[in-house]
Formats: sequence, C-alpha cells, structure tokens
Amino acid sequence: MRLKSKIAIVTGGAHGMGEAEAKLFAEHGATVVVADVLEREGEAVAAAIRQSGGQARFARLDVTDDANWTRVIADAVAAHGRLDILVNNAGISGSTVGDHDDVAGWQRILAVNATSVYLGTRRAAAAMAKSGGGAIVNISSIMGIVGSAEGHPGYHASKAAVRNYTKTAACRYGPQRVRVNSVHPGYLPAMLNATNAGTRADKIPLTPLRRTGTPLEVAYGVLFLASDEASFITGAELVIDGGYIAQ
Ligand SMILES: NC(=O)c1ccc[n+]([C@@H]2O[C@H](COP(=O)([O-])OP(=O)(O)OC[C@H]3O[C@@H](n4cnc5c(N)ncnc54)[C@H](O)[C@@H]3O)[C@@H](O)[C@H]2O)c1
Repeated sequence: MRLKSKIAIVTGGAHGMGEAEAKLFAEHGATVVVADVLEREGEAVAAAIRQSGGQARFARLDVTDDANWTRVIADAVAAHGRLDILVNNAGISGSTVGDHDDVAGWQRILAVNATSVYLGTRRAAAAMAKSGGGAIVNISSIMGIVGSAEGHPGYHASKAAVRNYTKTAACRYGPQRVRVNSVHPGYLPAMLNATNAGTRADKIPLTPLRRTGTPLEVAYGVLFLASDEASFITGAELVIDGGYIAQ
C-alpha cells in the first residue's frame, strides 16, 4: 500500500506501460483516473481495476488539448477533493508519424509527447499546490538522453524536451512541494501505435541484461517516484533500460 489514499491521474492509461502503472498504483491503494483517447480500452482498464477491488474510473483526455486538461483535473479535484499524482505517460512513437523529413510529423510528435507534458504539469502543479503538494512523473525515454541515426528526430527531440522540462518544472514548483521527475525506459515491446511492432530481438544482444524490459518493470520505477518514499527526490531522471545506455 505504497500509495494509500492518493489520488492519481495516469495518461495513456488504456494500454502498455500506462495500463501497468494504473493497475500497480491501484494495487498500492491509489484511486486512479485512467486518462486516454481510447475510450473502450480505457473503460476496460478501469473496470478491471474495480473488479480486482481497486478504485478507478476512466476520463477521456487528449493530452494535446489544454481545455481537456482543465476539465479532467477539475473533475478529479471535484470528485476526490485533491490531486496527489500525475503520470504524463501518453505518447506516440516515431514510426507513427513516419517520414523523418516531414515537418508536420515533427510538429505532431512534439505536440503529443512534449507540449502535452508542459500542459499537464502546469495544470496539475497548480491543483497540487492548493492541497500541500504532490508528485509528477514524466515518461521520457533513453531516446531523450542519446541520439540515433534510425530514430525519428522528432521522437528524440520530444523526449529530450521532456527530460529538461522536468528539471525546469522541478525548480519552479519545488517551493509549492510539488516534485517532478522523469523516467527513461529503454527497449520494451514496441508501442501500440508503432508500425514496426515486433519483439525488438535485434536489441537483445546490445543490452547488458540481454533482454527487453516489461511494462511492470517500468511501472515499479514510476511507483517509487510517485510515492512518499521519494520525498526528497525532484528534478531527477531514472533510467530503466537493462543497461543499454550505460555503455
Ligand atoms: N515501448 C517502448 O519501448 C518505450 C520506450 C521508451 C519510452 N516509451 C514511452 O513510454 C510511454 C508509453 O509507451 P507504450 O509503449 O506503453 O505506448 P502504447 O502505444 O502502448 O500506449 C500509449 C498510450 O497513449 C495513448 N495516447 C496516444 N496519444 C494520446 C493523446 N493525444 N491523448 C491521450 N492519450 C494518448 C494511447 O491511446 C495509448 O493508450 C510513451 O510516452 C512512450 O514514448 C516507450
């Protein structure tokens, strides 16, 4: 019960790592708002949590839309009295937008992966400040720390923006006792919206632990940063990649 009585919003909670985080948070006592554009899948995740004895509901949220953020956070505060935790997890992969030279693709990926984190963080921090503080965990990637020839430039740039914006937000909101940290997953099974879905077997020999990760392994890192166990940690980055960028 590491999040007992906490009120949490998990974006992109309908699938993948966000689903794992929502379920783990609920197992640890949090009331979870599963926020996503995928209504059927998001409702199913919330229902599964409730069936297991947890507390959850779905909220439709397009993370690129500031008015959506205002509504979802206001609804959470109205229903539960406060907001303690936000996980900015929703994202799209580089393969979703395709062509590396397409400016519209660059802009789309920056909007969904980076501008969304700015929109959500400032709205959530304002709500958290009113009830004495909270914790925000932003899901970046190892691709926000290193570059690559094959990765979409917009994906790299968006995740790097999340990494540094997290530190900036930590400085800005620290005096209101709002902690802001980033998590940097390495290779997991490819994202739902990726067109190159596969096992990523080619990455296994390049990873010191010789395997890809699981959503639950990332979720445990997010749980730690969201919990009071991390009460003196802000502006930090947690890499969860089996050692891939350690070499
Ligand atoms: N899978 C990986 O290998 C990997 C590695 C490093 C980082 N990440 C990051 O982790 C996060 C989750 O990745 P995943 O693999 O679980 O992805 P996923 O595709 O399985 O899930 C992403 C979720 O985000 C939601 N989403 C997309 N656009 C949205 C929008 N505009 N508003 C609200 N929700 C939206 C999707 O509907 C989906 O439920 C992403 O930020 C991703 O960039 C993934």
